[in-house]
Amino acid sequence: MKRHPLLLVAASVIATLAIVHTTGCGATRSARSLAADKVYVAPGELDKYYGFLSGGQSGSVFVVGIPSGRLIREIPIFEPRAAYGYAMHETDPRRQELVATGGTWGDTHHPVLSETDGMPNGKYLWINDLANGRLARVRLDYFEADRIVKIPNLQGAHGIAVVSPNTKYIVVNGEFEQPTDGLVTNPAPYTSVVAFVDPDSMVVKFQVRVNGNIDIADTSKDGRFAFSTVYNLEQGKTMGGMIQFDRDAVAAIDIPAAEKAVAAGKGVVRNGVPILDPAENAGVLTLIPVPKNPHGINVTPDGRYAIASGKLSPTVTIIDAHTLKIVAEPEVGLGPLHTTFDDRGNAFTSLFLDSQVVKWNIDKAVSGASDYIVDRINVHYNIGHLQAVGGDHMHPSGDYLLALNKLSKDQYVAVGPDLPENQEIIDISGEKMKMLASFPTTFMSAAVLKPLVKQTYTPAADAVQAGQERVVRTGPHAVTVDMTLIRSAYTPETLEVKEGDQVTLKVTNVETIRDMIHGFALPDHNLNIALPPGYTKTLTFDAGKPGVYWFYCTNFCSALHLEMRGRMIVQPKDSTVTLTDWHAAANITGPVPGVPSTGDKQ
Ligand code: CUA
Repeated sequence: MKRHPLLLVAASVIATLAIVHTTGCGATRSARSLAADKVYVAPGELDKYYGFLSGGQSGSVFVVGIPSGRLIREIPIFEPRAAYGYAMHETDPRRQELVATGGTWGDTHHPVLSETDGMPNGKYLWINDLANGRLARVRLDYFEADRIVKIPNLQGAHGIAVVSPNTKYIVVNGEFEQPTDGLVTNPAPYTSVVAFVDPDSMVVKFQVRVNGNIDIADTSKDGRFAFSTVYNLEQGKTMGGMIQFDRDAVAAIDIPAAEKAVAAGKGVVRNGVPILDPAENAGVLTLIPVPKNPHGINVTPDGRYAIASGKLSPTVTIIDAHTLKIVAEPEVGLGPLHTTFDDRGNAFTSLFLDSQVVKWNIDKAVSGASDYIVDRINVHYNIGHLQAVGGDHMHPSGDYLLALNKLSKDQYVAVGPDLPENQEIIDISGEKMKMLASFPTTFMSAAVLKPLVKQTYTPAADAVQAGQERVVRTGPHAVTVDMTLIRSAYTPETLEVKEGDQVTLKVTNVETIRDMIHGFALPDHNLNIALPPGYTKTLTFDAGKPGVYWFYCTNFCSALHLEMRGRMIVQPKDSTVTLTDWHAAANITGPVPGVPSTGDKQ
C-alpha cells in the first residue's frame, strides 16, 4: 500500500453496502473481462484509494476501497453503534455531545478532508449533520469521531467545505432560513448564515448573513473566496414560493474582507458568534446571478473557475474565480447537479434527469467552441453526487470516478419496496468513459423470492387520503395533524402549534410507485421517519421550544427534493401573533437586492 494514498471523498446517502459486481447486460464477454480486471483486487492485495461516503440518516461515514468497491469500515458519528462500542454509555463523551447538541441521530451529506497545499494531508475529515445543524470531526489516524459541535444561529447545516489551500476554516452553510432576529414572533422574511469554523478548536469564528437557502459550498484554491449556491432568493416559505424567480445566485464571500470587518467589530454578536450583515459591510458578499435553483458548486483544480450546476436549467455556469465574472454558460444536459475533474482539463457533470455523466472540456466551453462535449455515459439511475479521485483537490489523479446514484431500480434482486442506492465506478483514464462495476447482495435463489417481494405497501384502513389532510386542535395542549406526502411536497406545508403542545402526527406517503420513499425529519426533535409508498406512520412528540423548525425530506425523490420541506412554527405560550400574520408572512416575495430578476412569477 502507498504510504499516502490519495483520498477520494464522495457524498451519498447509502445505508447499505455490500460487495458484488453485477454483470452488465449487453456487454460482450471480453469487455466484461476487461472491466472486471480493472476493479479486481485479489485476496490479500490492497485497494489504491480510500473512498469516504456519507451515510445519510445512518449518521455515519462509510469507507470503501477503490477500485474494488469493497466496504472496509463504517465510522459511526451521529448515532450510537453497538458494533463499535460507540457512544453507547451515558458517560461516553461523544454520547454526551450528541445528547447536548440535538439528539442521537444525524443526517450526513458531505465529507471533506483537511488539506496542506491544496492536497489531503490525512489528518481530519469533517462531516455535516443536516438534521440538527451540527459539524463533526473525524481523526483519520484512528478513523474515529473526536468532536461534535452545534453551529449556533443556523438550521439545516448542509454544504460544507475546507478553505483551501491549508484548511484555514471549515465553511458550513445553513440551508433552512430562520427569523432574522431569532424571534419566532417576527414574521418578517427569514435569512440564513454561512459559518466559518476554526478547524482546531471547532469554534465558530464568524458568520455571514445571506438571504435565501444556502446549499452547496466550495472555496477558491487561494483561500480568498467561499462560494455557495443559493436558491430561494425569493425568501419564499413554501415549495411553490421557492421556485418563482428565473435566477438565483452563487454567493461569493470575500474571506479576508470578512475577517477585517469582524476584527473591526462590525459583527452583531448572537449566541457568542459575530454575524456580519452584507448590507452594512460592502465587499464581503457578492451575489452572482445564475439560473434558478442551482445545486453544486465546484472549483476547478487549477483554481481558475467556479462551476455552478443548474439543476432546473440544462446548463452549468462557469464563473471566473478571481474576478467573479460569468465567462460561459454551456448546456450539458438535463438536471445537472455536481461537477468533478480530471488532471487533463476536463469536467464531469452529473445529470440527474438524464441519468448520465457528461464529460466536457473546460477551455473549449469557455472559448465558446461548439465541440466542448467529449463524452456521455449512462448511469443507473438518477445520479446525484459524483467524485473523481482527487477532484476536490489541486492534483486529481484522473483514473477513477464514482457515480452516486439515487435509484437502482432493476440493478439488484428486489429487497422490498425500498431499494438500495447504487454506486458505479467509471474508468476516466481515456478519452471515452468506461463503466467498470457497481456495488451494493444474501444467498438464496432469486427465483424463489422474486415473486414474493412487494413493490409498495397496501394503504392501511386509516391512511390519510389526499384531500383529507388537516390540523385539528384536540385539547388545550394537543394538536392532531393528518398529513400526506407526494413528490415533492408536504400537505399541509405549515404547522402552527404552541409551546407545551403534544403533537400527534399521522402521515401517509400516497405515492403508488415503488421505491418512491419520502422522509419526515424534524430538526432538534430527535425525530426522523421514512415512509415507503403506501405507508402510514403515527407518532406523538412534544412541540419543543418556540422557534421555526423546517421538517424536510431525507430521501432524494425528484429534482425538487431539496425544496420538499415545510415549517412547524412553535409559538411561545403567550404569543399574540395571529395566524393571519403568519399566512401573510408566508407569501413574501419582494425583489432581491443585488440580483436582477426578470420578475416572472408563477
Ligand atoms: Cu421527497 Cu425528497
